[in-house]
Amino acid sequence: MIDTRAPDPIGYLDQVAASAPGQGCKRRVLRLLDLRPGHTVVDIGCGPGTDLGAMAAAVAPGGTVVGVDRDPVMVETAGARLAGTPGVRVRHGDAHALPLADGIADRARTDRVLQHVDDPARALAEVRRMLRPGGHAVLAEPDWDGLLIDSGEPELSRRLARFVATEIVRNATVGRSLARLCAGAGLAVRSVEVYTPVFRDFGTADRLLGLRRSVGRAIRAGHLDAGAEEWIAEVAARPFLATFVMFLVTAEVA
Ligand SMILES: C[S@@+](CC[C@H](N)C(=O)[O-])C[C@H]1O[C@@H](n2cnc3c(N)ncnc32)[C@H](O)[C@@H]1O
Repeated sequence: MIDTRAPDPIGYLDQVAASAPGQGCKRRVLRLLDLRPGHTVVDIGCGPGTDLGAMAAAVAPGGTVVGVDRDPVMVETAGARLAGTPGVRVRHGDAHALPLADGIADRARTDRVLQHVDDPARALAEVRRMLRPGGHAVLAEPDWDGLLIDSGEPELSRRLARFVATEIVRNATVGRSLARLCAGAGLAVRSVEVYTPVFRDFGTADRLLGLRRSVGRAIRAGHLDAGAEEWIAEVAARPFLATFVMFLVTAEVA
């Protein structure tokens, strides 16, 4: 029987951040942010403070990093981890109504946050409100229709990906919609890139993408039949290949 329990959220985010695919994506986001000494940067949905230290180093001296998260446990953990790092503040708040004044930020970022919020358009309007003229945001969000898993039974891979996109992630296709949503929020899109990590090790893909857990949930929900448990065991045992798509959009105050 597959264990379908969700992992500890902080342990999971730490694993993503420590993995080669996670680090590759975060490096690209940091480059696109183009942080300079003295900048004010807001990390919306900062989690346990994963990237606040790297941002603080990039805006020093004289810069400010504000991490915002709606989960009090994330806020407490980020605050504890970043205690004593100059220029870093962590705030409890919601992406739909940021606890920050108009026009205060040179930069803003989301990393896998808009996929979870109730209303991504509203959250982007908040990004727009908070950025100062000349400022820009980098939005790094997945598109779960882009989850591709090699197997001898591609229809099962498709059904698993479809289950993840339709039943597990709230805004599963926000990645492809970012450019349109930015335009709707009054942000001019400067660039759109995709980051498509290739996983050739099942264990890493499973830890980061929750493949086995999603199979278990899909079986319980009746989207896959019980034979899928054997199928994912075979997928794990054979030479493995999977990928998924992250969109990295840079948008500035129009
Ligand atoms: C996948 S985690 C990413 C955390 C962090 N960006 C990172 O790269 O490690 C998503 C984070 O967004 C936060 N979040 C989700 N909805 C939010 C909202 N409406 N307002 C603020 N934070 C939110 C969650 O609490 C969680 O910490």
